[in-house]
Amino acid sequence: MTTIHSLARPEIVAIKPYSHAAWLPTLTRLHANEAPWRPAGDDTVAGLNRYPEPQPAALVSRLAQLFGVDAQQLLVTRGSDEAIDLLSRIFLRAGEDAILQHTPTFGMYQVAARIQGAGVVDVPLQRSQQWQLDPQRLLEAWTPNVKLVYLCSPNNPTANRFSEESLHSICATLSGKAVIVIDEAYIEWSGTPSFARFLPRYDTLAIIRTLSKAHALAGARCGALIGRPELISLARKIIPPYAIAQSTVEAALRALQPAAVAESNQRMQQLLEERTYFAQRLGSTSGIEKVWPSDTNFLMIDCADPQHILDKSTAGGFIVRDLRGNPALSTSLRVTVSTREHNDRFLCSLEAP
Ligand SMILES: Cc1ncc(COP(=O)(O)O)c(C=O)c1O
Repeated sequence: MTTIHSLARPEIVAIKPYSHAAWLPTLTRLHANEAPWRPAGDDTVAGLNRYPEPQPAALVSRLAQLFGVDAQQLLVTRGSDEAIDLLSRIFLRAGEDAILQHTPTFGMYQVAARIQGAGVVDVPLQRSQQWQLDPQRLLEAWTPNVKLVYLCSPNNPTANRFSEESLHSICATLSGKAVIVIDEAYIEWSGTPSFARFLPRYDTLAIIRTLSKAHALAGARCGALIGRPELISLARKIIPPYAIAQSTVEAALRALQPAAVAESNQRMQQLLEERTYFAQRLGSTSGIEKVWPSDTNFLMIDCADPQHILDKSTAGGFIVRDLRGNPALSTSLRVTVSTREHNDRFLCSLEAP
């Protein structure tokens, strides 16, 4: 039994997956009860009347190349949200297991754990330490029923990334005892390489990636779970058989052609410059007390009167994220960096009388 199998729910290890319609594209399909005509408005190459390829090979291979891993180390998911959901279902037994997460962080880790009936252990990041991860405190909070440890780097909503040294110290201690999940949704904005290059070193490391942010495909719902092949085959057993819509497969493959990636990289570069500009301007806006440093495509701001800033935003036609639900962020809001035009209009609306 591998380490991944010993951490997984035994019923998932034992489950026999649904046997989907065979994928033999050279033969005419009379085996999946599909309509033989295309629906109105269908502009896909393969046809929306057909079930899509389960784990589309071309997309798996392109994403693996993009993320610097082998195809057997990657599962395509409906956004990274689905990767989080799959991990919860594979590893968390209701009423017994738990996740460990730093707070504040992305809300779906704990929602997915609670849907599964599992516990949530929080380790608060400290404002006084600029929201940096304290590996020692996190390790002290680990207990054997903690099966998933989420590290969001760069972190949503605090916008900072964690040092590789701190990630290594957690992996070195917990590898084999829990699955360490590093969520790299915003890594493209951080100028640092993916931690996926350490998959050979740590048995139970998992990385989640998404095309929603830097690749501008949030509406397509496309992400990836990356890990050892044992983990990927367990996830493959439980993901719904035709999870990735054909329109998504084709849109992602188009967006990942070399010329399109070069263009995205250029846009990302521009957005980084815009982030510097926007951060400076927000920092000198009345009522904004602090703009936190950012390794992401958003800025977390602390406000003297957050409700006033929210009201001004709405009056100017903008919506920003209210973070006050988290007691550690009682004066904070999160603002996405956008185009110069949007950013300037937003700044103007804050200054409007
Ligand atoms: C840290 C983090 N992880 C994962 C996600 C989910 O992204 P998606 O499901 O679009 O890939 C988000 C979305 O905002 C996020 O901020």
